[in-house]
Amino acid sequence: MVHLIEDIRENENVNLDEAVRIALTQVEGTYAIVVISKNHPDSLIAARKGSPLVIGVGAGEYYVASDGAPLVEYTKNVIYLDNEDIAYISLSQGIKIKSINNIERTPYIDQLEMSITQLEKGGFEHFMLKEIYEQPKSIADSMRGRLNVAKEIVSLGGITEYEDKMLNAPRFTMVACGTSWHACLVGEYIFEELVRIPVEVEYASEFRYRDPIINEKDIVIAISQSGETADTLAAIELAKEKGATVIGICNVAGSSIARATHAGSYTHAGPEIGVASTKAFTAQVTLLLLMALSLAKKKGTISRSRYHEIIIALESIPRQIEEVLSHEKLIKEIADRFSNAKNFLYLGRGYNFPVALEGALKLKEISYIHAEGYPAAEMKHGPIALIDEEMPVVVIATNKGTYDKVVSNIQEVKARKGKIIAIVTKGDETVTSLADYVIEIPETEEMLVPLLATVPLQLLSYHIALNRGCNVDQPRNLAKSVTVE
Ligand code: M6R
Repeated sequence: MVHLIEDIRENENVNLDEAVRIALTQVEGTYAIVVISKNHPDSLIAARKGSPLVIGVGAGEYYVASDGAPLVEYTKNVIYLDNEDIAYISLSQGIKIKSINNIERTPYIDQLEMSITQLEKGGFEHFMLKEIYEQPKSIADSMRGRLNVAKEIVSLGGITEYEDKMLNAPRFTMVACGTSWHACLVGEYIFEELVRIPVEVEYASEFRYRDPIINEKDIVIAISQSGETADTLAAIELAKEKGATVIGICNVAGSSIARATHAGSYTHAGPEIGVASTKAFTAQVTLLLLMALSLAKKKGTISRSRYHEIIIALESIPRQIEEVLSHEKLIKEIADRFSNAKNFLYLGRGYNFPVALEGALKLKEISYIHAEGYPAAEMKHGPIALIDEEMPVVVIATNKGTYDKVVSNIQEVKARKGKIIAIVTKGDETVTSLADYVIEIPETEEMLVPLLATVPLQLLSYHIALNRGCNVDQPRNLAKSVTVE
């Protein structure tokens, strides 16, 4: 870039500002750059395409960063650059923003909502543990102002304008990556049960490269904690090109995905610093529930009594998570027993299938133990061959409808001497009598179980990773925001 800019400046006889602009019309790919010249030490030129970039505006000073978190210590005033925008920042003349096509726009100053305390460990050993423990609050924050049980109101201001369009859609397509993709899977089950509109869940990376059949009537729901995931962003752009309406569920305000979508709602989980996503997942599921409840009520696909039961149960979730967190000592003992395992299998059915996937992802990313999540009934189609006395099998066995089937799956594992760690509903007897280790979660609606059952699995991964001496908050080879393909 530096050579290209220099070459343009000399050969086209333009100043540095213009040379950077022309250079950016010639490059390919994504970038977030800052250019400074030793001849103009009081000026910066910052530009972005695809990768995030935020400018902090202080008193007589400016900052450039990849997101708001490092800026909050210095200023809460920020300017988000749009794709292919260039900011010319000068101490004497302030900020001027132009597109690479030379169109000027007025800079808009946003306010960062985060505070420094949110970015500190607050007495916890790791951010991940702090974020696991924040879930009662982060879920309550996700519901704040959106759920009013007394008045039986669920309302997501960010999508109200689009609700009719959503209700007339032939289907929803949910796109995301990693943990956010698991939230989409839970969302698929919730939407189909409550709103009775078909849902497809796609990995953003697959969706963007396979010429999907999407048109103007389609609703695409894109989910992302960071709001900067390159594949999800590209999937959104593709859906928009095909005329679909794109609704975002993001955690980071002002992020690229939040700005690229037509409408959406923030999860309000607060900054998530640990690379392993925890509170963002439960907040995403909460948002999907709220969205589905609001749509189902409007569409008339839910009875008043059922609606009431679910919102009452939802309101209790933060308190119930406190109860789950109180089992940490037991979960640590289980972690101590299995920290040397080479493999783990996670099984669940229905709403608990995505929980199994999420449990396995959490374990592998921070402890580097190989783990697989499976729909419990699929075990006999292959993974059962892996089971021997060395194999811990985590079974989420809370389902009402398929409880007996899950019990059979557990018996199949026991017959092969596998070790069962079961997540059960408080008071459970059958699974409890069969399992080697049992973690209880409080009784709730089946569709809300992922909000509770994920928490002990987060703690299990955390303690196993800690026992193995792994860097819990920054596991090897991983980045918090995956801004590249
Ligand atoms: O920021 P996003 O939600 O778009 O990130 C998606 C994935 O990269 C992310 O969930 C990743 O899988 C986490 N490390 C999982 O804990």
